[in-house]
Amino acid sequence: MTQVLVGVVGAGLMGSGIAQAAAVAGHEVLVHDSNGAQWNHARGVIEASLGKLVEKGKLTPEALLAARERIRFVPTLEDLAPCDVVIEAIVETLAPKQALWQALEKVCRTDTLFATNTSSLSVVDQTIGLQHPERLIGLHFFNPVPMMPLVEVVRSVQSSPQAMLAGLEFVAGLGKTAVTTRDESGFIVNLLLVPYLLDAVRALERGVGSMTDIDAAMKLGAGHPMGPFTLLDFVGLDTVVKIGEIIFDQYRETRYAPPPLLRRMVAAGYTGKKSGKGFYDWTGDVPAAMELGL
Ligand SMILES: NC(=O)c1ccc[n+]([C@@H]2O[C@H](COP(=O)([O-])OP(=O)(O)OC[C@H]3O[C@@H](n4cnc5c(N)ncnc54)[C@H](O)[C@@H]3O)[C@@H](O)[C@H]2O)c1
Repeated sequence: MTQVLVGVVGAGLMGSGIAQAAAVAGHEVLVHDSNGAQWNHARGVIEASLGKLVEKGKLTPEALLAARERIRFVPTLEDLAPCDVVIEAIVETLAPKQALWQALEKVCRTDTLFATNTSSLSVVDQTIGLQHPERLIGLHFFNPVPMMPLVEVVRSVQSSPQAMLAGLEFVAGLGKTAVTTRDESGFIVNLLLVPYLLDAVRALERGVGSMTDIDAAMKLGAGHPMGPFTLLDFVGLDTVVKIGEIIFDQYRETRYAPPPLLRRMVAAGYTGKKSGKGFYDWTGDVPAAMELGL
């Protein structure tokens, strides 16, 4: 896929990263978020992230300016009518995603590629009520999008080969690596990663080792770049609970069921790095292990 007009719906953590990656790759990008207050926040996040790429020598100052110019925030879904590709990164709940695609189908051309960034919902469930379900695929990016090289390209039972090819070409154009996966809850990465993270919490509950020892063990003994509790804090404990629940609902296997400690921490507002506290306290200069009363 050469330079195209990309629409991004949802300007949160993922949407702002996807918009940035597309703009850096040379695409014009229109971003819509139903919460107008999010626009300034997203713009700030993108500016800061582009700035860091320049500092690291990965982007020239001229390329930063050009990428910034290519991103425009638009107030209505109708503004996305001319887009060649629309990627959604809104809330991880089925009904709003279904409503979004139905609304977009009314405004976009029939050959516009639709892609969901869902982590765990089924792609085919999002096609309910669509006239052209064959053009909806999954493009599952990873956080932080500008740094993470992988995108899972998800084929639903209805996705057409043309839609899959367009998705693969788009991902390659972003300079990222695509893997294709079937529309099974969790796809590849979360299907394997989420039970590992939940097992780490269960090990802590059972007293197998302390949190810092479990993190050190997986770093030094298994060669992981960070331990499971640090990773849980990065991903967001609430996000992991939600994804675990959705995968559990699909397979009814207990290894996907979020353990009680994780639920209690989310109830306490300890959702990880984004809230300042999770398994670690991130508010100081260096992360400090939280006292969880275990
Ligand atoms: N956080 C991650 O690590 C991660 C990784 C991969 C995929 N995802 C998926 O990406 C999606 C977004 O996740 P996020 O972490 O960026 O969420 P987020 O809460 O940071 O952002 C969601 C944004 O969507 C906006 N929004 C909600 N409903 C909308 C609607 N109907 N129309 C327009 N805008 C709407 C919100 O105002 C918010 O700004 C979810 O489906 C999530 O599962 C998340």
